[in-house]
Amino acid sequence: MDALALGSLFAGIKKKAKVVVVSNRQPWFHERVAEGIRAFRPASGLVTALEPIIEAVGGTWIAHGSASADRLVVDRKNRVRLPEENPRFTLRRVWLTPKEEEGYYYGISNKALWPLCHIVYTKPRFSRKDWEIYRDVNRRFSDTVLDEVGDSPAIVFIQDYHLALLPRYLRNARPDLKLIQFWHIPWPNREAFRIFPWSEEVLDGLLGNDLLGFHIQYHCNNFLDTVEKTLEAMVDYENFSIYRGGRPTYIRPFPISVDFGQIGIDAGSSIVQEKKESFIRQLGPGAEGTKIYVGADRIDYTKGIPERLRGFDLLLQRNPDLKRRVTLLQLAAPSRTQIEEYGRINDEIENLVEEINRRHGADPWKPVHFLRDHHDYHAVLAAYHMADVVMVTSLHDGMNLVAKEFVAARTDGDGVLLLSQYTGAARELTDAVLINPYDTDQLADAMLRAFRMPEEERRRRMARMRAQVEKNNIYEWGRKIFEELLKRVHLGKSRSEAKQVAMAGSVIRRLNPHLAAVKFLTLRCSSAILKKVHARLTGNGVMR
Ligand code: F6P
Repeated sequence: MDALALGSLFAGIKKKAKVVVVSNRQPWFHERVAEGIRAFRPASGLVTALEPIIEAVGGTWIAHGSASADRLVVDRKNRVRLPEENPRFTLRRVWLTPKEEEGYYYGISNKALWPLCHIVYTKPRFSRKDWEIYRDVNRRFSDTVLDEVGDSPAIVFIQDYHLALLPRYLRNARPDLKLIQFWHIPWPNREAFRIFPWSEEVLDGLLGNDLLGFHIQYHCNNFLDTVEKTLEAMVDYENFSIYRGGRPTYIRPFPISVDFGQIGIDAGSSIVQEKKESFIRQLGPGAEGTKIYVGADRIDYTKGIPERLRGFDLLLQRNPDLKRRVTLLQLAAPSRTQIEEYGRINDEIENLVEEINRRHGADPWKPVHFLRDHHDYHAVLAAYHMADVVMVTSLHDGMNLVAKEFVAARTDGDGVLLLSQYTGAARELTDAVLINPYDTDQLADAMLRAFRMPEEERRRRMARMRAQVEKNNIYEWGRKIFEELLKRVHLGKSRSEAKQVAMAGSVIRRLNPHLAAVKFLTLRCSSAILKKVHARLTGNGVMR
């Protein structure tokens, strides 16, 4: 599956329904630079994955406009066509006040849901004030989507944990909308999730969707189990669906990916070559002829950057002969810096880098080069290209697209991937050297193994990983999701169908005390039967 094929699949869909993508993070942001205003792409796995899809299918992407020049380039409806050089889709921006951003993005999304879902021993923090703001902001996104779709039938594709309540708001306002949500982070087990003070509301929100996707089956199972033990809903383990209010939500795994073909082409471009030369200059003469170990991450406590540094330190302690023969290049994008834990992890990393360089460095060789900056797409590709080894040491990660991008960029067929077994990517990239980032000894051993790995073995592993990413590329991900939706809903006869379902829902809610009957009805009966039940109960005066 490629961009063209996905585009033609959507040509049919778009005759019947508008297509709208919604996320917190926008695919492009605008900043003032010396020459005027320029558009940049943020460091975001979500954007890496979704942008090729929206470019292939067209439509509108609704997201939070958060950069300094974002307001200067939009029209009256807050819309701008992108990408600038060859516009293929519309970005519609939603504005938030600093207080709203604080409560919704920093507060509930990243101090509460992010640590709650990742389970990496960072405590989630909950605040009722933040929760109220989170609700309001989800409503704001809902109003924007409703305005965007007007009276037309539409498929709304919602992204991630920032917008858990949006599907319910949309469902209540427009029962006929076709709603899909993809949850880009792990879904934890029920024991971990149950401490979330508004767990029922979040689950009810997500069950407003027709289709809810996670990266892997394990997260789907966790979700089904969480719902079963938390909410009044019928969980059908045979079909992986959940019935609430008379309507099903299908829960499915869709391992996300990257644009394999395009990354391969871009990796060979002259701009990547220039960036590579610039890195080589930055690393200096000490790095010449050494094996280059690369890390490329947002600075986040889930990414295992200190663990990686400790592993590298141990590698050098145990193998002094590797001094002057290995160099670690760590690209690190600052992220969520207003949150205390992110400030702390940043300090920890800087101290570790300093310590390792002091302990092992020997002029002009410096073991670790820590480049804290927003490195653009081409710079990251350049780093992958010059790497002998790429290290992904996440303590927990829904998928991790660094791993897949690296593999896609290595058109030369060489390079070793060290990959945490706690990433979604580890399920597909079984030819990586899988590691437990909590085990520093094992990590140092794996780094040594990568150093010594014979070329023939490196190429064999890389070829298999490339075949996997090529097959399950980002367009294939998009195809699977939309085909699954189309198997479950009918585009077109939306309004009347919606009315029936709404009526069934109202019966179910009124019958709520008689739970066993409700479960039976939700699962087995057509809405025609429910209409009769509704009439009978209303006629008998049972429901007033
Ligand atoms: O992994 C979840 C996620 O939302 C990604 O989709 C995205 O790449 C990353 O977090 C970035 O987060 P933020 O948008 O907060 O910078």
